[in-house]
Amino acid sequence: MTDVEALLDALWRDYTATTPQAARVHALLAARGEQIVNDHVALRTFGVPGLGLAALAAPFERLGWTPRGDYRFDDKHLVARYWAHADAQLPKVFISELVIEELPAAAQATIRDLVAQLPAGFGARADLPYAGRAWRVDHATYRALLDVSEYAAWVAAFGFRVNHFTVDVNRLTTVASLVELDDLLRAAGFALNESGGAIKGSPRDLLEQSSTRAEEIDVTFADTTARIPSCYYEFARRYALPDGSLFEGFVPASADKIFESTDVRR
Ligand code: NI
Repeated sequence: MTDVEALLDALWRDYTATTPQAARVHALLAARGEQIVNDHVALRTFGVPGLGLAALAAPFERLGWTPRGDYRFDDKHLVARYWAHADAQLPKVFISELVIEELPAAAQATIRDLVAQLPAGFGARADLPYAGRAWRVDHATYRALLDVSEYAAWVAAFGFRVNHFTVDVNRLTTVASLVELDDLLRAAGFALNESGGAIKGSPRDLLEQSSTRAEEIDVTFADTTARIPSCYYEFARRYALPDGSLFEGFVPASADKIFESTDVRR
């Protein structure tokens, strides 16, 4: 196994351990004879020194991924960047970070308390993208963060790990459109993220995306165990630019809605 394969394999194993539906999506498509290629893998982090998107990107950059585009999601207090590899078979890497300074003071203090628990040098670990949650957090703290930012609460509960993998729909051979794939998933019992409609973006945007709703799993907090939304699976269909090459970027308005796939249902 190459270093690139080992990193992607570690990410996939960590992801499927917290996202049982991912294996079921794979089984559904494999039963049709599909060989799944991932369009991108997405990770989340807190925008604090030494742990932000640059730190999370370092293990990927060492293996040949290079930065391509930057995005900003004002309402969710996020900035994001994506990386691509010269080997087009490899997934793009999409990393977002929470702009802590834009949160209320109490939430900022909570996040700084979590981060302060990490041992020195944690952000420089080669396995940071799948290092998991290395701080103690109780359920009330998670709930308090939820009221401020679903994203902050998710990172507090899950730490450093893949938030979602994304099937490259262009490379499926038995499914002609994202509508068709979504229908297939619904028929198999998967709940999709319907925020803003199941399909985000359009051929005019050069990118259509849909995603499952994150399923709930038992998470162990410092004081109790609670069922909360974990990770989801995403599906992307890309369209060609005027020069005939596929659009490789992201559409902020669509990504903004996709982030809500992990929202807690209230
Ligand atoms: Ni995505």
